[in-house]
Amino acid sequence: MKKIRKLAILTGGGDCPGLNAVIRAVVHTAQRQFGIKVCGIMDGYSGLINKNVCQLELSDVSGILPRGGTILGTSNRDNPFKYAAESQSAPAEFQDVSNQALKTIEYNEIDVLLTVGGDGTQSIAQKFFEKYQLPIIGIPKTIDNDLNGTDVTFGFDTALNIATTAIDKLHSTAEAHHRVMVIEVMGRYAGWIALQSGMAGGGDVILIPEIPFKMDKICAKIHDRQKMGKRFSLVVVAEGARAEGGQVVVARQVQDGSDSIRLGGIAAQVGKQIEDMTGIESRFTILGHVQRGGSPSPFDRILATRFGYHAVEAALKGKFGSMVGLRGTEIKTTLIRDAIAVPRRIDPESDLVKTAKAVSTSFGF
Ligand code: F6P
Repeated sequence: MKKIRKLAILTGGGDCPGLNAVIRAVVHTAQRQFGIKVCGIMDGYSGLINKNVCQLELSDVSGILPRGGTILGTSNRDNPFKYAAESQSAPAEFQDVSNQALKTIEYNEIDVLLTVGGDGTQSIAQKFFEKYQLPIIGIPKTIDNDLNGTDVTFGFDTALNIATTAIDKLHSTAEAHHRVMVIEVMGRYAGWIALQSGMAGGGDVILIPEIPFKMDKICAKIHDRQKMGKRFSLVVVAEGARAEGGQVVVARQVQDGSDSIRLGGIAAQVGKQIEDMTGIESRFTILGHVQRGGSPSPFDRILATRFGYHAVEAALKGKFGSMVGLRGTEIKTTLIRDAIAVPRRIDPESDLVKTAKAVSTSFGF
């Protein structure tokens, strides 16, 4: 195997807390332990396309462990295999500029590329691996927690904490005004943030994409609570949830070569229908990008640090085309191909769902 002299790292897709922690871990492990240079690709795959690369020294990663965002920048639009040409025309014209991205790798004498991202970023990584045999190691991140090959992605725990804190705050105002509060959380087509923050925050109704809901069941739950003297209710809804036989609510379409749909707005619909059907005053809150911002939780800092260290080790062992992940208490590798084959979603028969039901949570069906 070719001796590894230089690693490159990029952060792709939507940002999440813990990205800086992983960059720091990679630079420390590579430089201090193995004397390998590290460079950063700016703004995700955009940096590869546009030759935007920087050297990363220990001094560049000093003090970044607790910082949100990513010092390298990110992008969830620039897929080198389906790149939207610079034009205002709609629909966008897409081109394959992967060869141009490869030239940046060659010019900078990069031996291994570490791709930190969710399914979109890892799908692109897999294409580079298959088409050009580019030595790639994936590192899973996303607040959505919807990637296979790992029990959990970093970023999720911080988002979960933020969502739970928000539910706690809505609890007191809901109770004071005898209202129904509907809170919409992110997660795309997986309900992990909604389910877990709803359980942690004591949501009375939790609506997730994996279990299509019926409005009359939601209202029945709210009425039951009224009969028990509980004059307020909390409804936690995932942005990708939908009524039985209905469609997801799309907030906007973007020029994204991986997924052009941006979800959002289901909380407004659910809140209005609850008010119309029960006569109980309702309000809705869309938590939005607050869930991706700020300092990572200690869990995410540690997980990201472990992923960074193990990704460098995996590179040195030549485990290209694989992704590090948490399995139980250990960090193991999985083929990226397997990790992205299907999204990781909630099993409606899982212990988590059964437990939530046991403590009187309604899933609206
Ligand atoms: O994948 C992370 C995520 O925050 C999703 O939960 C959400 O649907 C999406 O990204 C939002 O994307 P954008 O930042 O482009 O609005």
